[in-house]
Amino acid sequence: MFVICENTKIAKDVYKMTLSGDTSKITATGQFVNIKIEGKYLRRPISVCDFEDGSLTIIYKVVGEGTEILSRMKKGEELDILTGLGNGYDTGKSGENPLLIGGGVGVPPMYALCKKLISEGKKVKVILGFNKSDEVFYKEEFETLGAEVFVTTVDGSFGIKGFVTDVMPEDYTYFYTCGPEPMLKSVYEKTKTSGQFSFEERMGCGFGACMGCSCKTKYGDKRICKDGPVLLKEEIIW
Ligand SMILES: Cc1cc2nc3c(=O)[nH]c(=O)nc-3n(C[C@H](O)[C@H](O)[C@H](O)COP(=O)(O)OP(=O)(O)OC[C@H]3O[C@@H](n4cnc5c(N)ncnc54)[C@H](O)[C@@H]3O)c2cc1C
Ligand code: FES
Repeated sequence: MFVICENTKIAKDVYKMTLSGDTSKITATGQFVNIKIEGKYLRRPISVCDFEDGSLTIIYKVVGEGTEILSRMKKGEELDILTGLGNGYDTGKSGENPLLIGGGVGVPPMYALCKKLISEGKKVKVILGFNKSDEVFYKEEFETLGAEVFVTTVDGSFGIKGFVTDVMPEDYTYFYTCGPEPMLKSVYEKTKTSGQFSFEERMGCGFGACMGCSCKTKYGDKRICKDGPVLLKEEIIW
């Protein structure tokens, strides 16, 4: 059980929630948690945005009933959350100058990853992509970590006009990305190095039992919830 410490709107339909509870099962950035929501049979998976001993931060977009219920919850209320789910990112492969690319609600898992890479002494560049200015969040937070940050919006109302793939630098050693599937596919085609992709597929059980999130890879079928959500560039079949 986790207790809500903060639940604040930070962009259009996007909320940041911090909670206190046992985070000891969270072992890697890029993992996700699965939240029980009152009146909903299936839990709702949300990426870990940040975690410390006893503290968890998630960022979620209101897209349906479950996330709408979450957005109305108040400080002091409790949530039943399964933690430490999924494989997470492997920072051992990053090289010295990793590139992080997040689109929309694919931005949150990039935050804990960026923090970890910077703590390991890496020089990190981050590209954050949104549709328009009222959707932009976490630019300053990434800058405060010490990353070089580029923001793109499709309509040009904030940052650089265009898609994340329009501002890709030449000099990066490896990449990590999370976002909507068309963006991931475009990143796959434009990147010249190896990298890791995080998928936010629809899920059933969320812990490997139902096969509801199974997808084909070059190394056989994988469950996004258990064997993912992070897949290597080399194994993906679009
Ligand atoms: C591993 C993982 C990590 C995720 N991390 C985040 C995160 O950090 N922040 C965040 O905002 N969301 C994240 N999601 C997506 C989030 O789980 C869904 O948006 C949420 O479950 C929707 O619940 P709901 O009851 O509000 O909407 P529902 O009523 O269940 O659905 C409303 C609408 O959203 C669509 N939808 C629901 N789930 C998804 C999905 N996974 N992908 C695309 N469309 C979906 C439905 O098709 C429907 O059109 C993640 C998903 C996964 C699998
Ligand atoms: S959601 Fe059940 S196996 Fe992945």
